[in-house]
This record gives sequence, structure tokens and C-alpha cells, in this order.
Amino acid sequence: MKRTLGVCYYPEHWPEELWSEDARRMAEAGLTWVRIGEFAWSRLEPEPGRLDLAWLDRAIAVLGAAGLKVVLGTPTATPPRWMLTRHPDMLALDAEGRPRGFGSRRHYCFSHRGYRADCARIVTILAERYGRNPHVAAWQTDNEYGCHDTTRSHSPAARAAFRDWLAQRYQSPQALNRAWGNVFWSMEVGGFDEIDLPHLTVTEPNPAHVMDFRRFASDEVASFNRLQVEILRRHTDAPILHNYMGRITDFDHFAVGADLDIASWDSYPLGFLSDRLEAGEAHRHRFLRQGDPDFQAFHHDLYRAVGRGRWWVMEQQPGPVNWAPWNPAPLPGMVRLWAWEAFAHGAEVVAFFRWRQAPFGQEAMHAGLLRPDSAPAPGLAEAAQVARELTEAPEAGCAPGEVALVFDYASAWAWQTQPQGRDFDYFRLCFAVYRALRRLGLNIDILPPDTGDLAPWRLVLVPGVATLSAPLLEAIARHRGRVILGPRSNSKTAMFATPVPLPPALPGLHCTVARVESLPPGISVPLEGGGAFRHWREVLEGSAETVIRDADGGAALMRSGGLDYLGGWPDASALAQILTAACAEQGLAPRPLPEGVGARDTATHRFVFNYRPDTVEVDGVTLPPAGVHWRALPRS
Ligand code: GAL
Repeated sequence: MKRTLGVCYYPEHWPEELWSEDARRMAEAGLTWVRIGEFAWSRLEPEPGRLDLAWLDRAIAVLGAAGLKVVLGTPTATPPRWMLTRHPDMLALDAEGRPRGFGSRRHYCFSHRGYRADCARIVTILAERYGRNPHVAAWQTDNEYGCHDTTRSHSPAARAAFRDWLAQRYQSPQALNRAWGNVFWSMEVGGFDEIDLPHLTVTEPNPAHVMDFRRFASDEVASFNRLQVEILRRHTDAPILHNYMGRITDFDHFAVGADLDIASWDSYPLGFLSDRLEAGEAHRHRFLRQGDPDFQAFHHDLYRAVGRGRWWVMEQQPGPVNWAPWNPAPLPGMVRLWAWEAFAHGAEVVAFFRWRQAPFGQEAMHAGLLRPDSAPAPGLAEAAQVARELTEAPEAGCAPGEVALVFDYASAWAWQTQPQGRDFDYFRLCFAVYRALRRLGLNIDILPPDTGDLAPWRLVLVPGVATLSAPLLEAIARHRGRVILGPRSNSKTAMFATPVPLPPALPGLHCTVARVESLPPGISVPLEGGGAFRHWREVLEGSAETVIRDADGGAALMRSGGLDYLGGWPDASALAQILTAACAEQGLAPRPLPEGVGARDTATHRFVFNYRPDTVEVDGVTLPPAGVHWRALPRS
């Protein structure tokens, strides 16, 4: 597999005289791809129906002439101001009913039919004109669905579409009343037009209602994307992708990804450490200029799954960003490290955001590969270094994972809808498990929740999946290795009710969750043999074997055959013990790594990454801060 670099570029931000020099310098730095166009609607169609595509023709020609390949973005994340005059009701409304107005981006409601029609129109225009352009080698739909909390809208358009969605799903209001349990608090309705969106209620709305609204909102993102993909496919054979974000779980990325050829994501390690990770001050300070050592790897593995093996980094942080509470500069070498780590996890392309720092607009404080005066910024030399190294480095896709983690977006909605304890966050739980697996030096695959075959992985983790799908249940039943479920796995029916018999209700596992409790910060339930449960703990009963007990003698982990059920949220030390024992039992050989060090195997090489601020000895090698090392694996 050929691995290449790219960059995000905004020709409409710069005088045309600069374009060819920019293109020359991009090629000189060893870049192959340029993504353009995704925010350019006001320049493509300055007035309704008056198109100006000549500049885009020239920009593509200039980039192509320099040997660069273009990723053309559809501009639907930034409708121009006139669009609002045409569709005054196209804005999303927040949960308080306030419009999310014009003046930044993503100011649209996914359900607005008129806006969808205008999206279809501009995508058709672009697809017809550039679908066969030899320089346009890939397409991006929109930009970062769900970013800035834009998946759910509480607009009249969303309400109308939600009612239609419910009518399709339930066929009759009586069926809906039964499914939601609307007899509770006299919430029964007599028709679909009596159902509102689950907001502005006096106290919490029915969780079944909220869950359906979240499923609907996710489906709206998928169908909005599909509309564009179907148009593009009529005019181009180039691959189509979307750029997802870090830790956004509001829509089902697997569902959107099913319509696309490649998944990509936007990786901002320092921004993410600062603004979307539970971490103490010591951790934030230690990794201030490197980013969390596992956060990028988690998303690389997640998006490899979303892309069914094909994935890119579409936007890689090149220097300080502008949007986190604090915006430090990366340690020298980290821009290179982040790129290599993505390649080790199987990325085909790593593209940097952005080429030149803009002197205007909201992101004037956001670094690029060039400074606003066109002088090289520090990221450029590191990008060029990776480009040089790529020509010599071993080319191989990433090795299959030894262990697997099931990730389910709907479970993120489930535990946001009904956390039962403020700290019960699904992503956080999965990320803790991922971190523990990675600390053991294991290669990890992330699996979608409808996986029907677990055979390739001897150890499979299924924490917190609210409702196990039929294919996954069958795969678990057939699995010959070990599957560890819990806490809260299979504890809701598809209608978000408590199943009876009580969870986890797995054939062959004689274990019942008799009671649950959530625990505030600072409170833990120690486990025999070390470690503790935090945030969440369950009382387990049944005839399954008790493998681990809590300090009071209660069952903490129960087992029947290859199935384990874990009755709580284990801390890092408990996870390390549970996973180490499971590896030993399954004949997997963990290769524990020092804290702050990551590793990933390709088919032929082992890559090691030092995120620590100090030098570390690992695998017989001395790695400086931001150090990357690879060595050939013994041939098996
Ligand atoms: C991304 C976005 C880009 C740019 C970047 C800044 O989330 O896709 O357009 O805003 O962040 O870091």
C-alpha cells in the first residue's frame, strides 16, 4: 500500500498569483494530496443561481499541473447568507428553542427539505463539472458532521421529520405507546402529530422518547450524506469520504461510513487533550505538547473499522490550534510522530491542516505549515521529513489485531440518556479499556456492534453495549476464545426497557445483575487481588463461577465457559490484572509498555512511539521524547 501526505488548502483565501508558487512548494515538500473547496460556497455561487466556477477550474488546473491530486469537498457545511433569505427556517434550533444562527458554520438543520434540495443542486453542479476531471482523485462530503454539537436540531423541520420517522417505525400510536411505556405518567398519545421533540419538558422526558429522537437524528445525518453520495456516484468513480472528528458520538459513524469508500478523521492531539478528555492536571501537564498517548491510536483503530479497512487522517494538527482552552505548541518531532503513528495503524494518507495560516477570520491564531507571511512554520520541515522517510520506509498495511473491542454509538446515546451516575460515559469506559489493552502492547481492532464473526480475535471486550445485536449475540455464542462483557452490557431492550429475565441474559452464562449502584468521585469498591471498581458497581448472582470477588466477598467477575461478565467499572490496575490473566489463558503474549509509550505492528514491522517528555528505554532501544522507532518483525 502506497502511503502519502497531503494538505488542506483554501485557494479562495489567497490572491491567484500565489497559487502556482504554493503548489510548487507543496510538491517540493513531498505532499501528494490537496483538499480544497469545502467552505467555498459563497464564492462558487455568490448569488442564488449565479455560478462562478471559473476560479475553481483554474485552481484545480494549477494544483494538478504541479502533480498534486485534489480532494474536492462539497461546500454544504457553510451555506452562504442568501440561503437563509431563501429558507428562513433552515437553521437548527438548540434544545432551548433558540436558532443557531448565521456567522460561523454548520448553520443548518439536517431535516430541512429545502436546504437538502439546495445541497443536492450544488453537489450535482460540482459532480457534473469535476466528476471526470483527471486531477480530482477523491471527494469529501460536507465537513465534520456533528461538530459544534450540530447533530440534533429542535426545529419544526426536525419535528415533522421525526413524526414521519416514528410513523414508519411504529405504524400506530398504540404500538408507540406500548414500546415507549407511555402509560407511565399518562404520557400516552392518540396520533403521531401529538408527539413533540423531547425537549422543554418540565422534568426529564421519557428515555425511550429521547433514544428514538437520537436514533432519528443519527439517521438524518446518514441520509443527508447518502443524498450527496448518490449524486456523486453518478458522475465519478473517485473514492468518496467524509472527515469525522475526535470523540463525537452523536451519530452512528458506521451507518454513514457504509455509504462511503474511505473514512477519514481530523486529528488535533493537543486540542483534544486540553478540551475533551477526562484527565487530571498532572496528565495534562505531562502530555501538554505531545497529546494523550492513546487518544489518536483509539481513533485510528475506530476509523479503520468505520472505513472497512480504508482510512485517512484528513486534518493533522501542524502547530498550535486556536479552539482549545489553552493552545500550546507541539514538542519538536511530534508532528512527525503523529503522522507515523497514523501510518502504523494503516492510514493511507495523512493530510495537514492547513497550508498557510490565515491572517483573518476565526482561525487567525491557528498554525499552518506556513506562517501568514509564507515563511515556513515549524510543521513544514517535519512534514517534509516524513515525506522523505516514506520513500525509504517499509510499506505494509497494519497487522490484524490480536484483541478486539466492540464500539457502539447507540450505547453512547443510551448512557447519556440514562447515565444513572454522572460519570457513566460510554466513550470514557471504552477508552479506559482501550488504554489498558494498549499498555499491554497488544494490537487492537475495533469492531462495529453488528459484528457477526469474532473468530479472528481470541480476546474480545464488550463493555457497556446497551443492547447486543442478534449477529453479535450469535457470534458470542459461537466464539471459542474469551469474551468479556459488562458493566451494563445487554441491560436494555431495543425499546430501552429493562429486559426480564434480568441482564445480562446471555445463553450459557448463569449470572444475573441483581442490583446496580453508581459511585461519586473518590469512592471505590476494592477488589480482592488489587484494583477497584469506580463509578459503577453491580451486585451479581447466579451459579456461574466467581473468578474475582470484591473486598466484601461479593462476585465482581463471573464466568461460564468462554464468557465473562464484569460487574463494575474497573480502574486501570484492575483492568491490567483482568486483561493480563485473560491473555495468559488465551495464549496471547502481552508486551507491556512503559507509561506514555505506544506501539503498533504493521504486517512486517513493529513501530514504537514515545509520547513522554523524557527519554525511555523500550524494546532494547533508547527513544528520545517524540521518538519513533521501527524494526522488522521476525517472519512467522
Ligand atoms: C477542524 C475543521 C477545520 C478547522 C480545524 C481547526 O475541526 O474541520 O475546518 O476548523 O478544525 O483546527
